[in-house]
Amino acid sequence: MPLARSLSITSLSGLEEWDEEFDLEDAVLFEIAWEVANKVGGIYTVIQTKARLTAEEWGENYFLVGPYVESNVRTQVELIEPTNPALKRAIDKMNSSGCKVYFGRWLIEGSPYVVLIDVAFTAWNLDKWKKELWDNFSIGVPWFDREANDAVLFGFLTAWLLGEYAAQCEEPPHILAHFHEWLAGLGLALCRQRQLPVATIFTTHATLLGRYLCAGSVDFYNNLADFNVDKEAGDRQIYHRYCLERTAARCAHVFTTVSQITAVEAEHLLKRKPDIITPNGLNVKKFSAMHEFQNLHAQSKNRIQEFIRGHFYGHLDFNLDKCLFLFIAGRYEFSNKGADIFLEALARLNYLLRVNHSDVTVVAFFIMPARTNNFNVETLKGQAVRKQLWDTAQTVKERFGKKLYESLLVGQLPDVSKMLSKDDFTMMKRAIFATQRQCQPPICTHNMLEDSNDPILTCIRRIGLFNSSADRVKVIFHPEFLSSTSPLLPMDYEEFVRGCHLGVFPSYYEPWGYTPAECTVMGIPSISTNLSGFGCFMEEHIADPSAYGIYILDRRYRGVDESCNQLTSYLFQFCQQSRRARIIQRNRTERLSDLLDWRYLGRYYISARHMALAKAFPDTYFYQPHDSDTAQGFRYPRPASVPPSPSLSRHSSPRQSEAEEDDDRYDEDAEAEKDRLNIRQPLTLPSKKGPALPYTLPGANGEK
Ligand code: UDP
Ligand code: G6P
Ligand code: GLC
Repeated sequence: MPLARSLSITSLSGLEEWDEEFDLEDAVLFEIAWEVANKVGGIYTVIQTKARLTAEEWGENYFLVGPYVESNVRTQVELIEPTNPALKRAIDKMNSSGCKVYFGRWLIEGSPYVVLIDVAFTAWNLDKWKKELWDNFSIGVPWFDREANDAVLFGFLTAWLLGEYAAQCEEPPHILAHFHEWLAGLGLALCRQRQLPVATIFTTHATLLGRYLCAGSVDFYNNLADFNVDKEAGDRQIYHRYCLERTAARCAHVFTTVSQITAVEAEHLLKRKPDIITPNGLNVKKFSAMHEFQNLHAQSKNRIQEFIRGHFYGHLDFNLDKCLFLFIAGRYEFSNKGADIFLEALARLNYLLRVNHSDVTVVAFFIMPARTNNFNVETLKGQAVRKQLWDTAQTVKERFGKKLYESLLVGQLPDVSKMLSKDDFTMMKRAIFATQRQCQPPICTHNMLEDSNDPILTCIRRIGLFNSSADRVKVIFHPEFLSSTSPLLPMDYEEFVRGCHLGVFPSYYEPWGYTPAECTVMGIPSISTNLSGFGCFMEEHIADPSAYGIYILDRRYRGVDESCNQLTSYLFQFCQQSRRARIIQRNRTERLSDLLDWRYLGRYYISARHMALAKAFPDTYFYQPHDSDTAQGFRYPRPASVPPSPSLSRHSSPRQSEAEEDDDRYDEDAEAEKDRLNIRQPLTLPSKKGPALPYTLPGANGEK
């Protein structure tokens, strides 16, 4: 029974409306990734945030496939009986043949169905499958590469699942399988080799070789066309992984990447030009009250300030109200993520703030997971001392209040000299004594397993940023992702980002980079680079990104030292902004959210899916490329409130006089309205329908 599904991508401020009626027939979509219900990095964010839109479009015919990880399932997945009869038969069959396959609902927005495969349970097949891999693809996977072994198991199991599902369908099915990243890629290659009735898409979120080459000391972007890819992969002992990735890219009906910069990289390193670029979006939350996100910033900032009070106990010789919170976060790839130049720029900023006698203090957080033995004592003690001070103050306050009350009850003004007892003073002195500290406030919140050769710590030792009193820049390294259940900093990542002032992501290798995108939708300015997918995307779509708090560092045409100077100058200028200027800037940043919403960016995934269906099932689906199937040409203009002349807006963020420094009240609404009207001016959009569906599907107009 053909299912007609209609999708309406609603109008977003300034972005064109996109309505499309199409008929997917009886197609079923499987989306396969190692990060389904299993957080590692940004791919998890792609899948998790996109689920709602995809589930809206595909309804009961959408299944995510990932690995079974018990701890994740316990907290994120509700296990249920499979809803689709053919899929139920397929899963039952696999389970009766020695596999462990689970079905459930992933408890995220959109509540998509998930099929989770326990790869370890089927490890007894590994040797047999590796042999098959060698016989059919000439790819040999060494025994010691655990991740690649998992990729083999996951690949064979997903291909088994899809083949079994096809076999269990009563009518010839139209299966669409979207595979993400090399870890899931083998399933795709096997589908093609076994000639299953499956339309395949492969999305790469980075190339293995690109990531490895960039992490070394290679001039990557100037030599892209010249790498001897087989040799480079072999030298880095990732040849087998590289082969798995390249096979998936080459076998796919449709190959996509997350950005233009990675498309060029893929063309050179994987030897296939992507058919379409599928930029990453987010689920943008809109608040009914316009400035709700500003209030959230203030609330979260208060909580970070509390943490700082504890962390710097005994050394709180700076004004927390003039303290700016900067952060970098993500998987721990020291130079790829630009932690190296961030540290160097912080050292230079420290110098600049000192010589300029600035009263601003910067606290820079590094949130990058590394191997640790849990929190260290000194850090935990800091929070305990802070709590003790708080409790002491509360006790004294209560006793004071009681005496005051009693005095007022008998109609007397209290004798202030008798309000505090000797005991009260003793208790307060003891609490103050507890804040004495012989050492500097710690840099790292955890006991590192590889302390002596950890790249961040080594660099800090070299540049000498030790959280001393004289330093205007303090550093805190939190080598674990944030969690609201942490005893140290009980905030989840989103809350933390909201409370910060600036995200700093000066990556050298970053196919997309979710972290600055997440800052943007929360109204927090960020620094990214013109080597990141996100940075290039924003540069393409915004006339003056820095006016919106999107600073894009040039790491493509400048040397490391020059980029570092540019970063230092961005940071120094940011530190010179008044509070009022920061508030205005946050409003502008937040206004860009629509551009990053899946409701807008989801269309590229839809295009890729239709393209794949048409290639795999040409008798049923028809794909017609469209002239204007990119969003190029769309540009957010400069905010109306930014002076047009560069001389008037050297740094195009709003700046005020010193007198206005602490004034956080201003006519935000008027400012916002002015900018919004400007954005709504007719824009140079590609066409009325914009990057609309570039093809017609049979059945949409009644024809077959
Ligand atoms: N992240 C997180 N908790 C943290 C720090 C980061 O969940 O404490 C997430 C962040 O929200 C982002 C992802 O990690 O979605 C990193 O993705 P990105 O694309 O920036 O980089 P990747 O690690 O995939 O290279
Ligand atoms: C938000 C709040 C203001 C607060 C400000 C602090 O805008 O609505 O009440 O003063 O944040 O901004 P800052 O950049 O200094 O953290
Ligand atoms: C990869 C990339 C990152 C991207 C993410 C999601 O992990 O390193 O830049 O944002 O995938 O596509």
